Amino acid sequence: MKLKDTTALTSFKYIWLLKRIFPYINQVMGRVILGFIIAIPVGMLDGIMAFALTPYMDYVLAKKDFVWEGMTILNYTIPGFSISYSTLAIAVPFAVVGFAIFQGVMKYLNSYLSDWTSLKITNNVKKDLFASLVRLDTSFYDQNTSGIIINRYLGDPDVASRGIVHEIKTLVITIFGAGSLIAVMLYSSWKLAFVAVIVFVAAFVPMFLVRKKIKSVSNENMVIAGKITTTMNETYNGNKVVTAYNLQKRQKKIFGDNIDDSFDVSISLTKRVAWMSPIMFLIASCGIAFVLWYGTYLITSGEMTTGAFASFITALLLLYKPVKSLGDTLTGLQNIFVAMGRVFELFDYRPELLDPPNPKEFKKFSDAITIENVSFEYDRGVEVLKNINLRIPKGETLAIVGNSGGGKTTLVNLIPRFYDVTKGSIKFDGVDIRDFRMADLRNNISFVFQDNFLFTGTIKDNIMLANPNASEEELQQVLEYSHLSDVVASLPDGINTELGERGLTLSGGQRQRVAIARAMLKKTDIIILDEATSALDNESEAIVQSALDNLIQNKTVFVIAHRLSTIKNADRIAVINEGELVELGTHEQLISIEGGHYKHLYEMQFKNQEEAVR
Ligand SMILES: Nc1ncnc2c1ncn2[C@@H]1O[C@H](COP(=O)(O)OP(=O)(O)OP(=O)(O)O)[C@@H](O)[C@H]1O
Ligand SMILES: [Mg+2]
Repeated sequence: MKLKDTTALTSFKYIWLLKRIFPYINQVMGRVILGFIIAIPVGMLDGIMAFALTPYMDYVLAKKDFVWEGMTILNYTIPGFSISYSTLAIAVPFAVVGFAIFQGVMKYLNSYLSDWTSLKITNNVKKDLFASLVRLDTSFYDQNTSGIIINRYLGDPDVASRGIVHEIKTLVITIFGAGSLIAVMLYSSWKLAFVAVIVFVAAFVPMFLVRKKIKSVSNENMVIAGKITTTMNETYNGNKVVTAYNLQKRQKKIFGDNIDDSFDVSISLTKRVAWMSPIMFLIASCGIAFVLWYGTYLITSGEMTTGAFASFITALLLLYKPVKSLGDTLTGLQNIFVAMGRVFELFDYRPELLDPPNPKEFKKFSDAITIENVSFEYDRGVEVLKNINLRIPKGETLAIVGNSGGGKTTLVNLIPRFYDVTKGSIKFDGVDIRDFRMADLRNNISFVFQDNFLFTGTIKDNIMLANPNASEEELQQVLEYSHLSDVVASLPDGINTELGERGLTLSGGQRQRVAIARAMLKKTDIIILDEATSALDNESEAIVQSALDNLIQNKTVFVIAHRLSTIKNADRIAVINEGELVELGTHEQLISIEGGHYKHLYEMQFKNQEEAVR
């Protein structure tokens, strides 16, 4: 499963996208609705302000008292009333300030609710997305770069969900705001309002023309952001290589190129999009010019009062704000929909390796592990393992040797189901491992990898994660068996010493022993060891070797061996060459095969080790 780099396809399926985000909005629905309710008066207050101008000009400035005759609706008589112009002269300004205060409070509540809901939604989406990410198969992690994963699993949800409530709300405020202003305009003069509305609609046409461009740019930018993060990660993780090979220039160039690409993409969007705003403004100005001319005509012909005209013009000018924000919102929504498209696509990635519907109980392993006619391909058509047959009885230590790239690591990776066999099967006591729940299977296997990953945290954390319920005695015992007691004693905070990222403050041999301690603490019957090829000095090697010996006592062990001492300790040796099991037997048996693979390997690789030890 390779994350497709550009996929704007789903971003036009608005209904589908809204359906997918809805459950997250629904979780905080109460506050969303409250926010919307508050948003409505916030939007409408602009209209009320504009409307206040009519009585002010037509009554206060014209020194006329306001008189309302009252009315009768269905036998109910609402009495009329009158307000003197001098009262109005004081009341209207006060009302304006009063409304402004009210609007201010509402705006504050609105911002609070808006941030609260959008952050909650974003976090919930991120949590679920992360949950789906950690479930994915090893092969998914093989195929996708860290940068793409970080950007798609962390960056996109931010864009997708943080904005959505905000934009929908802005849309609501804007529509109500524009609506109320248009109502004022209609009330003042429907003819003028008609002209103004047509002009504003015309001003929006360019918006719809650039939607596609915005989306494709948003996708391209995501891909570039992924590359930038990958470059960053590689510069960090590979800093030793960078320094040793003087690759600073190379890294700088790669990073610079990424950044320049991002610049080009963004600028190409600006080129396409930046003319919109002035064009919209120009169209709007033409509209205003026309309204001024037509309004003057309506006043002189007595069809409209000056107060109404003042309200109208104020409403029209105030309308510019919601209309502009409508433009921004629609642009913003395009980006959000693209990000949402990318996010919800990820939710649909399912791991390829699944638990069986009716898993068998993992009983204590008692007889043998059998590898039957196993073939394996990473990429279709390229067989990395070819028809392997092996039976490992309980308690045996099997050393696996062979040429580099021959498939040793691949073979042992199949046992805890990091990958599934392409053909054949692996059985524990006659039960196919695919019939167990994966968690049960993996709970019963300890793994010491070729390169051992340590988490940020203390040594204790790193060991205990194999078995969080282990007692203090068990922990101490494991430290001793893995020859870590002395190391731990020499550290400033002992076992609670913080390790740097990936445990880089420990030496290679020490890291390996932490990994061995971790495997020991897990207390499983089956152990898989991918021995590090790194040449340790004789003393460290002896220590690591002794730690390993402690680990594998009375266990069933697969050990990919690079050291003669390990091989000699094994019960049998399997030679894997170019994906095939070519020889199987004890050291003595295999060494006596003239022209055999093992004899060859022994002479090339291991004999010198023997001499060195002597
Ligand atoms: N994740 C992967 N995706 C595709 N091909 C892979 C992957 N991992 C390994 N391979 C290929 O599979 C083959 C076997 O690799 P494997 O790591 O099993 O070799 P190995 O015997 O462990 O070698 P070494 O002794 O050097 O560790 C190699 O040709 C390698 O290029
Ligand atoms: Mg390997």
